[in-house]
Amino acid sequence: MALTQTQQFYPGMGLTTTKAPFIEVARSRGELYIEQPYELYSEENHEAWRRLYARIQDRWQRYATEKFLEGVSKLCLDPNRVPRLDDVNQFLAPLTGFKAKAVSGYVPAYIFFDCLRRREFPTTITVRDINSLDYLPEPDIFHDIAGHVPMHTDKRFADTLVRFGEAAHTAARLVQEIKDPELQVQRIISITRALARFFWFTIEFGLMRGRNGELKVYGSGLLSSYGEIAHAIESPEVQRYPIQLEWVINQYFEIDHYQPLLFIVDSFDHLFDLVDQLERWMLEGKLNNVAPGEPTMSEEDIRSFLEAVVD
Ligand SMILES: [Fe+2]
Repeated sequence: MALTQTQQFYPGMGLTTTKAPFIEVARSRGELYIEQPYELYSEENHEAWRRLYARIQDRWQRYATEKFLEGVSKLCLDPNRVPRLDDVNQFLAPLTGFKAKAVSGYVPAYIFFDCLRRREFPTTITVRDINSLDYLPEPDIFHDIAGHVPMHTDKRFADTLVRFGEAAHTAARLVQEIKDPELQVQRIISITRALARFFWFTIEFGLMRGRNGELKVYGSGLLSSYGEIAHAIESPEVQRYPIQLEWVINQYFEIDHYQPLLFIVDSFDHLFDLVDQLERWMLEGKLNNVAPGEPTMSEEDIRSFLEAVVD
């Protein structure tokens, strides 16, 4: 079989997280949005996907929220092969308008939220190394497609992501009106920190009350982690509290170990209303001085808010 042009440039190298020359080249060229070069996935990449997908099935049945399980069946993911984003989008887009969009790596904060506003989900296309299938701090396609995208099939959840995008848009508008450059940067850091914390403790690591009052997982960081999904629900080491906005926006977090603190929402209507409230608080100035600490904002994150087109 003749090699495609992409295969000729990157022969047999695969698309493994942190070891993919195709991704490094795209990043060095400043290309954020990329095509998914499907032919580059190695058999080892497909095998990593197969193992990740197979071993988590029982845990999803046991711990995931119903909406997530419905989403998984609606997406018709192939258990044996890394998904093609085009195939995923064929099932996803008619349901909520969301589409997975391939990116070469980290997406600066405003650009990330703005994608959500347009119902596009920046999606990592590399697969974690087959020798380290457990949680890794970097996202990969298993986290993004198996962990996040099934939730995007739910209308209320999808609308909530769009509200996050709108809140970021409001933030960019607010900070661009500030004349003093130092104050402007301080304000971006504080507001974005609040947004990022709220996103982390809900979309990434959120718990929800199930139909019979039992705790269920809807956060994608948990849904894509074989170990942590059980730990989040079962471990006596984890503190679980009904969500409180004022707490969440002032709570730092660390990404390199299991989360010791998780927050519970009642429903996706509840979550949607909280993003509304977050935006109101932003407008009232209540996000202007949140507690310092993680996450830190990079120069790129700050610039993304300053350069945002907000009319
Ligand atoms: Fe994520």
